[in-house]
Amino acid sequence: MDSQHYFSEQPSGTAVRRPLEVVLNGKERQLQTTSGIFSPGGVDKGTAVLLSEVPDPPLRGNLLDIGCGWGPLALTMALKSPEALITAVDVNGRSVALTTDNARALGLDNVLACKPEDVDSKTMFNTIWSNPPIRVGKEELHSLLTRWLPRLAPDGTAWLVVQKNLGADSLQRWLADELGHNWSVIRFRTAKSFRILKVTRTSAPA
Ligand SMILES: C[S@@+](CC[C@H](N)C(=O)[O-])C[C@H]1O[C@@H](n2cnc3c(N)ncnc32)[C@H](O)[C@@H]1O
Repeated sequence: MDSQHYFSEQPSGTAVRRPLEVVLNGKERQLQTTSGIFSPGGVDKGTAVLLSEVPDPPLRGNLLDIGCGWGPLALTMALKSPEALITAVDVNGRSVALTTDNARALGLDNVLACKPEDVDSKTMFNTIWSNPPIRVGKEELHSLLTRWLPRLAPDGTAWLVVQKNLGADSLQRWLADELGHNWSVIRFRTAKSFRILKVTRTSAPA
């Protein structure tokens, strides 16, 4: 399948599962992957940068992975914080199913993978990790971020990894303008060709 369409809701072609061996949270893990999803062969470079640079998530509370793919970010949060509840959303049905099955394979019962519309609208999140889908286009990316970032709890933080040459700096400026004065949007790190943006809600929602 064309890798440009990893964000299809129903990717074309048969979904044939195959084994995926990856290191997550410092250990080798036996998972599954399939075609028609993002980075099916392993941990994406940007995802790896995010995982190596972000502080550990809070031990408890509600954590969110926006655009979970086969689950590297959600599964790592769940391994690090077994008492937290991790919500992993994706529009791609194969990704939702894989993240669910990969969590089960790791014996994790604290991951809820689902479509975005199935998340309880009242849930607020203490931490968000995301390698957001830049290739969906600016308008859709902006609408995804304005949908989920306001769901950060007061003092909650979102960590976003974005490739420098795919508009990381303009996204940072847009976020700062869009979110306004009760938020802080900073460039936390630059590593390889990626920026990690740290978005913090500094006061309670009105
Ligand atoms: C860059 S990939 C990251 C996948 C995974 N987190 C990883 O690190 O390998 C972005 C993901 O966002 C998903 N996506 C695209 N549009 C979305 C939307 N509106 N809401 C939720 N997920 C979306 C795509 O299907 C894709 O799996």
